[in-house]
Amino acid sequence: MSLFGRKRTSIGLDIGSGFVKVVEVDHSSDQPEVVRVALRPLPPDAIVEGEIMDYGLVSEAVKGIFADLGLKNANVVTAIGGHDVIIKKIEMDRMKEADAREVIRWEAEQHVPFDIKSVELDFQILDPEGAGPQMQALLVAAKRELVDNKVWLLQDAGVNPIIIDVDAFALHNAFQHNYPEAAAEGIIALVNIGHETTQVNILENGVPILTRDIPFGSRRIREDLQRERGLTAEQAEDVVQAREALDDLSRLVESAADEVAVGIERASAFLMTREDGHYVGRIFLSGGGARIPGMTEALGRRMNVPTQLVNSFERTPVQPNAAADLSIDEAAPMLLLPLGLALRVA
Ligand SMILES: Nc1ncnc2c1ncn2[C@@H]1O[C@H](COP(=O)(O)OP(=O)(O)OP(=O)(O)O)[C@@H](O)[C@H]1O
Ligand SMILES: [Mg+2]
Repeated sequence: MSLFGRKRTSIGLDIGSGFVKVVEVDHSSDQPEVVRVALRPLPPDAIVEGEIMDYGLVSEAVKGIFADLGLKNANVVTAIGGHDVIIKKIEMDRMKEADAREVIRWEAEQHVPFDIKSVELDFQILDPEGAGPQMQALLVAAKRELVDNKVWLLQDAGVNPIIIDVDAFALHNAFQHNYPEAAAEGIIALVNIGHETTQVNILENGVPILTRDIPFGSRRIREDLQRERGLTAEQAEDVVQAREALDDLSRLVESAADEVAVGIERASAFLMTREDGHYVGRIFLSGGGARIPGMTEALGRRMNVPTQLVNSFERTPVQPNAAADLSIDEAAPMLLLPLGLALRVA
C-alpha cells in the first residue's frame, strides 16, 4: 500500500491507426489493477502504415479521449513503432554498462541502416551475469524525428509524455505480466493483428529477439468483404468483430492467415540457421484483428503449432466500472499494448 492509501496510477496511451486507446492502472495495492479503459476511433487515413498523415486529426482524437475521461495535462506512457524503429540482438565485447553506453553509438553504426547522427539509441545487456569475452545486448534505435514528432503531437493535444517506450516492448511487457510461464518457455511468437499492421514479436525464454511488421490488418478483411461480397463498411465491420455471421467467411480468413503465416515464417527464418534446431513452439495472438472469426484456428492449422488468443487480463484484475460504454471482453485483445504501457511505473 502506498502512504495514506493514495492512488498511484499510470496511464498508457496507444495511438493505433484504427483506434486511440487508453488504459489506466492503479499500482497502489500489491497487484496492479485496471481502473479505466477508453477507446476512440480515428478517421480513416489519419495514420497510414504506422505513419501519422494528419497531425490535426490525431491530436483531436487524443484531446477528445482525455476530455471524456476528465483528465487535464495527464502524464502518459506512450510508444513508438514501425519501420523507423529497429530492435536487434547484437554481440559486443563484454564490458560494464556505463562503458557500453560510451561505445554503443559506434556499435550501432554497424547494425542500423539510418544516419546514426539522427538516431536515438538505447540498449540492454541480456546476459549481465555472463563470463565470456562477448556479451549479448538488445539494441534499440529510433529515428529522432519520430520521437520528436510524437512528443510534439502529444504536447499539442495537452498530454505530457513521461516515458516513450517501443510498441514491441509494451506488448511483451503486458504478455509477460499475464502469462509469466509462457513468456519464459522456449521460443514463442507474439502476434498482434491491428487495424493496418500485424506485429510479430519472437521471444526466446522471455527475451524479445526479433520484431517485424507485416502490412496486414483487419482493415484489409473489411475491404475484401466490401469488394467481394458487396457489404457496406458497417456490415463488413460487424463480420470482422464477430457480431454478424457470414457464410463461407473461412476462405477469406484462410488466405489472411496464410499471409500472416508467411510473415511469421520470414521473421523467424533466422532460427532455421541455428544449430540447436529450436523453432517457434507456440503462437499467441492479440490485437483487434485477432477477433476475426476463425483466425486463431486458421493460423494454428497453417503454422502447425499451438495457437491461442491472448487474454490481456488473464492475471490483471479490471475494476467492474473501468469502461464507461464498452465491453471489456470484446475490446480486451486490442488493449494488450496500452496495458503494457500502463504497467510501467514512472
Ligand atoms: N470490440 C471492438 N471494437 C473496436 N474494434 C474492434 C473490436 N473488435 C475487433 N475490432 C477490430 O480491431 C481493429 C482495431 O484493432 P487494434 O486496436 O489492435 O488496431 P490499431 O492499434 O488501431 O491499428 P494498428 O496497430 O494496425 O495501427 C478495428 O479496426 C476493428 O476491425
Ligand atoms: Mg496497434
